[in-house]
Amino acid sequence: MRFHLEGRLVLSGDISKAASDIPAFIEEANATVLVKGAPAGKGARVGLFNVKGDTLEVTIDSDEFVRSHDALVRLAKLFGQRFGRKLAVGVRRVEADNYLIEMELEREPLQLARIPFVETLRFDGKRCTVTFGKLDEKFLSEKYVDRILTLIKDKVNAQHYAGKSEHWEQVFRSPERPALTDQDPTALLEKEGWIRRGASRGQWIFGPEMTRLFRTFERIVERELLEPLGFQEMIFPKLEPFSVWERSGHAKGIYPEVYYVCPPKSRDPAFWEEVIDHYRITNEVPLEKIRDRLDLPVGGMTYAQCPALWTFFQGRTIANDRMPIRVFDRSGTSHRYESGGLHGIERVDEFHRMELVWLGTRQQTVETATALAEGYRRIFEAFLELDWRMARVTPWFMAQERLVGDADQSEIGTTDYEGRLPYRKGTAEEWLEFQNVSVNGTKYPRGFTVKLQSGEPLWSGCSGIGLERWAAVFVAQKGMDSAAWPAGVRGPYGGTPRGIRFL
Ligand code: SER
Ligand code: ZN
Repeated sequence: MRFHLEGRLVLSGDISKAASDIPAFIEEANATVLVKGAPAGKGARVGLFNVKGDTLEVTIDSDEFVRSHDALVRLAKLFGQRFGRKLAVGVRRVEADNYLIEMELEREPLQLARIPFVETLRFDGKRCTVTFGKLDEKFLSEKYVDRILTLIKDKVNAQHYAGKSEHWEQVFRSPERPALTDQDPTALLEKEGWIRRGASRGQWIFGPEMTRLFRTFERIVERELLEPLGFQEMIFPKLEPFSVWERSGHAKGIYPEVYYVCPPKSRDPAFWEEVIDHYRITNEVPLEKIRDRLDLPVGGMTYAQCPALWTFFQGRTIANDRMPIRVFDRSGTSHRYESGGLHGIERVDEFHRMELVWLGTRQQTVETATALAEGYRRIFEAFLELDWRMARVTPWFMAQERLVGDADQSEIGTTDYEGRLPYRKGTAEEWLEFQNVSVNGTKYPRGFTVKLQSGEPLWSGCSGIGLERWAAVFVAQKGMDSAAWPAGVRGPYGGTPRGIRFL
């Protein structure tokens, strides 16, 4: 890598009179702070310099070890130490006028990438040249440059992954079980009146018969899994502010799928009077007038469900005697703006999920995931009697952060549970992901600064049980005659309730 920066220290006073001290100062900097931490001959170096009233102009060339922008900040610090007292002059700020960086990429880009803040971006094979114009202190001192270089590398790598499917590797397949129907479950459920479309996009209203099925699934999960493993119920918040997504990593990528939440700019009725009057006169909700009265979004509605829990642990050290922690939440909906992908109850904008979260040492975390996997297998085999399979896939947080790459080969990663949809036989959508189990490593404890009393690294995992997805797979395979369902579901379901009848 090669960095060439033209910048300056802007000082609190004129140093023309002390100009003769500057060459020795630069020499000192070149021999000390600008090479500190770099292999011999690979540090940063001030080449040209010039005193101009209250500024010290410099050019700095460097390799990757002490990058020129870091070198400029180090130079400013040394200036303060050498001259602050002596001349009663300090450094007000550092700035750059031009900055040129050359780096080698792992792979040739397939197309140009667009990057904010960059003045020019050129590719010559694997060689990438980036230039910047004027840069301020915040930009130079707060790692913007480093993050831009990482972003360029990530975007170029992503071009090579684009179109390739995510990592997927089957690890278990149930015995093939003949289905009792080959119909689309949503169509069946709608026809029988167990569900009706909600007024909002990708939203359903579940009637008594369907709700009983959801609760039956929950009860099976509670008895077979949560109670034996000691999972305790909690209530996680359902509005996730950006501060949570910054820590969870979602701030890196979920924007296209978020249902944003905006508070009003004011709750003064007078501020809203025109909106209210407008509606009363026209019988139309004046959307633009509302938009004008909304503040910026504070975040969005629950997306991955577990991130909002972590504020509970944030900045704390958990007592050894409470390890491992096993909790779950089923207190509300999750929301994703699914765009064109909407389909029946299988892909919806509003869905219901039991979210299990566990924390512990690495070993405890992996053990919990293994115990859950055992429990799920028993439920799908002995209770729901599904035709299903399991696959190792790209970890859910990598997919949601739009990070590319393969699932980690170690214990960190996601296992998806997929059920066969007989009505989709022979298509790419024959298998539906209806649940996952993930070991997330130290990602969340690090993101939310949570520690373990023993000092061992804290790990965590989570597992989402999508009730609509369970129901879609179950009804797609077992149909709607509850008397014909497998005993493990038929029993706790206790017969189809009367439901609601229309004329
Ligand atoms: N939080 C995980 C996800 O969003 C598991 O539910 O997939
Ligand atoms: Zn989760």
